[in-house]
Amino acid sequence: MHRPITETVETPRLRLEPLAVHHAEEMADVLGDARLHRYMGGAPLTLEELRARYEHLAAGPSPFHQEQWLNWIVRRRRDGRAVGTVQATVTPGRDGPRASVAWVVGMPYQGFGFASEAARALVDWLTAHGVRHVAANVHPANLASAAVARRAGLRPTGEFAGDEEVWSDERDS
Ligand SMILES: CC(C)(COP(=O)(O)OP(=O)(O)OC[C@H]1O[C@@H](n2cnc3c(N)ncnc32)[C@H](O)[C@@H]1OP(=O)(O)O)[C@@H](O)C(=O)NCCC(=O)NCCS
Repeated sequence: MHRPITETVETPRLRLEPLAVHHAEEMADVLGDARLHRYMGGAPLTLEELRARYEHLAAGPSPFHQEQWLNWIVRRRRDGRAVGTVQATVTPGRDGPRASVAWVVGMPYQGFGFASEAARALVDWLTAHGVRHVAANVHPANLASAAVARRAGLRPTGEFAGDEEVWSDERDS
């Protein structure tokens, strides 16, 4: 019940593929650029670190946490190349499950609308699977991510989590 229940999601140009440990090899390349961390903090993981992280993610959280970790590799359908990742952490909420979402697209693949297309598909999939509210934390200077969030139906709330603004699909927040 608490294990990730992701499935493949298709969009016109992309395939969102449930993350597995074997993806670490190709993703180490896609994610191995320090510029991706400008607004997220941290630094690229080595292949070994990424493999360990994917093992952890694929195993999922302990049932105690009542969370679901949903992770997808974003793949370009035209040539099968991995271009990024999207993720959602789903937790129980007052009026139904809530998801916190995030997206990353590798440097060579940015600027083609891939994050917007993947994020929209992610939010649609979550909604179709019973998630009531979606939110994302976006650094105010991260204009590309703000545009992606807006396209996914989120709006800035004026609330901050650390130095990131909370974007949400809730109208009354
Ligand atoms: C945020 C990110 C995923 C966007 O990926 P992408 O595939 O290039 O996004 P899209 O092509 O869908 O573009 C989204 C919008 O941002 C705009 N944009 C892109 N780079 C921009 C920049 N540097 N400044 C302002 N707007 C920018 C695009 O023009 C597009 O808007 P438009 O279609 O109206 O022109 C990518 O930059 C990234 O991975 N960044 C590092 C990780 C990160 O910060 N993730 C967010 C954590 S929530």
